[in-house]
Amino acid sequence: MKIVSIIGSPRGMKGNTGKLLGEVLKGAKSAGAVCEVIALRGDSVKPCLGCDRCHKKGQCPQKDEFESIKEKVLAADGIILATPNYIFHVSAQLKMFIDRCSSLIHCMALEGKYGASVVTSGGGDEVPIVEYLDNVLMIMGVTPVDSVWATMGITGASKQLPEKCREQAYDLGRTIVKAWEEKWRFAKAEKVQEKHRERMRELMDYYREEWPYEYAHWQRRT
Ligand SMILES: Cc1cc2nc3c(=O)[nH]c(=O)nc-3n(C[C@H](O)[C@H](O)[C@H](O)COP(=O)(O)O)c2cc1C
Repeated sequence: MKIVSIIGSPRGMKGNTGKLLGEVLKGAKSAGAVCEVIALRGDSVKPCLGCDRCHKKGQCPQKDEFESIKEKVLAADGIILATPNYIFHVSAQLKMFIDRCSSLIHCMALEGKYGASVVTSGGGDEVPIVEYLDNVLMIMGVTPVDSVWATMGITGASKQLPEKCREQAYDLGRTIVKAWEEKWRFAKAEKVQEKHRERMRELMDYYREEWPYEYAHWQRRT
């Protein structure tokens, strides 16, 4: 199994989120996965311009790393989204990447892949962020198997991960591989995806002239 992880902390794999993600990847590797980490720097993926070109042509016109990251994600079997809690949400770095995935979301282009989300914070409030990331994964077509989060406390920047979180993260890594190998199904993900699929079909019907790339994608699938 090939897993691509996208981490939105400016501290990369050296920060708290990176440490927690590192434990997930240790678990995944122990179960046989090949893992690649893409750390989003501020300038690696720029903000969406709202130009609609991805919907029309399937590609973003901006000259940055988005298209090459997209190809890696499309070629993987699993995707992990990791972020610190920045004012009750994902970091701006990760949000910029997610916004740029609009066409992947319209096309549910990651169907069949498995995933997970990883969040750290100073003082808590990780659950809504995890739920948001799981939703993003689901509407891209990914089946999220589980998530892990860690509250690092006020001196979090230099602290070790809580032992319980470390174990949960390692287990999550192993679970992703098992879920992919055994093709686990999750009722919640299937329900969300069915609803999203219907919505996208309606949307494509409405925008058939404006968004020929995405319209053709759904025509091929139906
Ligand atoms: C700009 C910024 C905003 C933050 N906002 C929150 C917050 O709203 N709630 C919280 O609990 N922690 C918040 N934190 C703390 C981080 O979420 C926490 O230290 C996290 O583990 C950092 O992860 P990293 O080392 O991977 O960057 C914030 C940190 C920064 C730098």
